[in-house]
Amino acid sequence: MEATNDRVQLDQDSLKEAVRKEMNRLGLSQTRLAKESGINQTRLSLWFSGKYSGDTEAVATALSRWLNAIQERDQEANRMSAAPSWRPTPTANGITGALRYAHRAGDIALVYGGAGVGKTCTARHYQENHPNVWVATMSPAMNSVAACLERIALAIGLPEAQPSAVKTENAIVARLENTGGLLIVDEAQHLPVCGLEAIRSVHDATGLGLALMGNESIYSRITGGGRQAHFAQLFSRVGYRVRLGNPSAGDVETLLAAWNIFEGKSQSLCMEIAKQSGALRGLTKVLRLGSLMLTEDDKCLTYDHIQTAWADLGGAL
Ligand SMILES: Nc1ncnc2c1ncn2[C@@H]1O[C@H](COP(=O)(O)OP(=O)(O)O)[C@@H](O)[C@H]1O
Ligand SMILES: [Mg+2]
Repeated sequence: MEATNDRVQLDQDSLKEAVRKEMNRLGLSQTRLAKESGINQTRLSLWFSGKYSGDTEAVATALSRWLNAIQERDQEANRMSAAPSWRPTPTANGITGALRYAHRAGDIALVYGGAGVGKTCTARHYQENHPNVWVATMSPAMNSVAACLERIALAIGLPEAQPSAVKTENAIVARLENTGGLLIVDEAQHLPVCGLEAIRSVHDATGLGLALMGNESIYSRITGGGRQAHFAQLFSRVGYRVRLGNPSAGDVETLLAAWNIFEGKSQSLCMEIAKQSGALRGLTKVLRLGSLMLTEDDKCLTYDHIQTAWADLGGAL
């Protein structure tokens, strides 16, 4: 009986050690571990300190399950190739041109359309390579001036929430004026008209470059479908406009070169995949899944890998 208890105790101790090791490696707090493993936080903390008098086996089972899942995830991640980082595709170069213009001229640029063709990743790439560039991503929660300004305040690193929209605006203007910076507003189709106007005021007050990026509907919102006069003022302020459609053959070729895919048949298949609604995002997903199928003898993804991955993801041409 004692021996069994010892063994259980030992198992619990070594489990504790294994879990602690993983937490350190992944930089996880106990709160996060509690969430990921589905164990109540108090129970987990008592278990760690050896003071838990409840069902320790249940805790141990849940933690062993968590450890297994982490290991499986790591193995998959090791086998799945990371997507190549940002590449200067023709579309990305077009987007960069608009960002550069808005930045240098302190003017407004509008980049819209083409879901999955590289707007967000090009904005991030531009931000990584230039000082004083901020990306604020809008969402359907942006239903007031206060919400829009708060999102921008967060993006430019203003720590404290202000008690009113006016104070938020003042803080934003104070932070951004004379920086010669660029504010990129991504998913700008979620901005209500009042939010668009608020952002334009910040631009006017600071001389900051402003790039509005989003889907097709942002264009009709800014032009007001040609009906509402008060939009005209904003529309007339847009100095540079890029409308994006499907990814071009050049976009696909540039990405495929990064994956070492040069064979004609594979390229045509990838072009077809990129023409679907997921565009380059969909293509990258297919290629990443395909990379799981590579054996040691494979030098790069073949037509068969790509086709199988595409079918596995539910695609059909
Ligand atoms: N220029 C690029 N270089 C590398 N990957 C790209 C590029 N453009 C698009 N992608 C791939 O497509 C995905 C979707 O791009 P994203 O920037 O999110 O598109 P959008 O914002 O236009 O919807 C990216 O996560 C990336 O995998
Ligand atoms: Mg995007």
